[in-house]
Amino acid sequence: MIDELRERLEGVRERVDRELEAASSPEDAEEIRVRALGKKGVLTAEAKAIGSLPVEARPEAGQLVNRIKDAIEEAISEREAALAEKALAARLESESLDVTLPGRRHGQGVRHPLSIVTDELLDIFRRMGFTVARGPEAEDVWHNFEALNIPEGHPAREEMDTLYLEPGGLLLRTHTSPVQIRVMEAREPPVRVVVPGRVFRSDTPDASHSPYFHQIEGLWVDEGISLAHLKWALTEFVHQFYGPDVGVRFRPSYFQFTEPSAELDIQCVLCGGAGCSACKRTGWMELLGCGVVDPAVLEAVGVDPERWSGFAWGMGVERIAMNKYAIPDIRLFFENDVRFLRQFGGGA
Ligand code: DAH
Repeated sequence: MIDELRERLEGVRERVDRELEAASSPEDAEEIRVRALGKKGVLTAEAKAIGSLPVEARPEAGQLVNRIKDAIEEAISEREAALAEKALAARLESESLDVTLPGRRHGQGVRHPLSIVTDELLDIFRRMGFTVARGPEAEDVWHNFEALNIPEGHPAREEMDTLYLEPGGLLLRTHTSPVQIRVMEAREPPVRVVVPGRVFRSDTPDASHSPYFHQIEGLWVDEGISLAHLKWALTEFVHQFYGPDVGVRFRPSYFQFTEPSAELDIQCVLCGGAGCSACKRTGWMELLGCGVVDPAVLEAVGVDPERWSGFAWGMGVERIAMNKYAIPDIRLFFENDVRFLRQFGGGA
């Protein structure tokens, strides 16, 4: 009986050896292990069968099964390790590095020209002590018009080509000036803020119009602020941004929220003032609107105009970016053609 058992077990062992010989991966070796030694494996069945042998034969049979089991386990493990090593070597071989290959470029984004210009503009004003404030793009009539001294029925409301979100109610702000009101409602003077943001008007897009664009608003309110401060700050800004030799002129103008009001022109950055098509042969380019804050605006937010005064301005970021980079069409900013955007670099 023992001899029969021994013979069967030797048979199993030889079969396992042959199978291991033919195995080509660690997974094959694992399958062989399961078939031989697993729960339903041959060796396991033999071990269970020992229980039905006569008592005196059991010890020897048990030893025999264990010995073969250990031998098989060892053979499988050895082969498995060898196959795993072979598989790793093959993988490394296939993944070998050619250090002479050119590197793969990662697509790196660049900053949008409007972001670059906005940051540059804000930085100049930060150095003058302004802090950055922001307000909502969806505004109400009070902040966008009323408090800015633009009463109902005033033609300026129509001129602004307002996009209403609700008839006569919430609207898309037509300028960043409402943030002047929000800032003064929220804090006591003195205030010295610059306000970057997107504004909206129902314009038909063409080379110089877009239904949305960006402005930077400025507001400086303190005791004793006058037109002289306005002239200094904005002239200084032009010289820092465009260079110290660029000519500046203030032209009288009209805005409801400032009195007096002016427009600031700079010498054409393309022709240097000689006259070209960009400046309509005048030698000057209109840069921004500005003025001394109208006392009615201060009163609207509960600031005493007897004590406090200030100046404000608003400028279009696209226009400034266009004359800085000689960009001929405002729509280029919003098409997001990477061939256009990549030209401005400015790092990531
Ligand atoms: N809000 C004006 C506009 O969008 C620009 C402007 C003009 C802003 C004069 C001001 C200012 O703060 O003082 O056309």
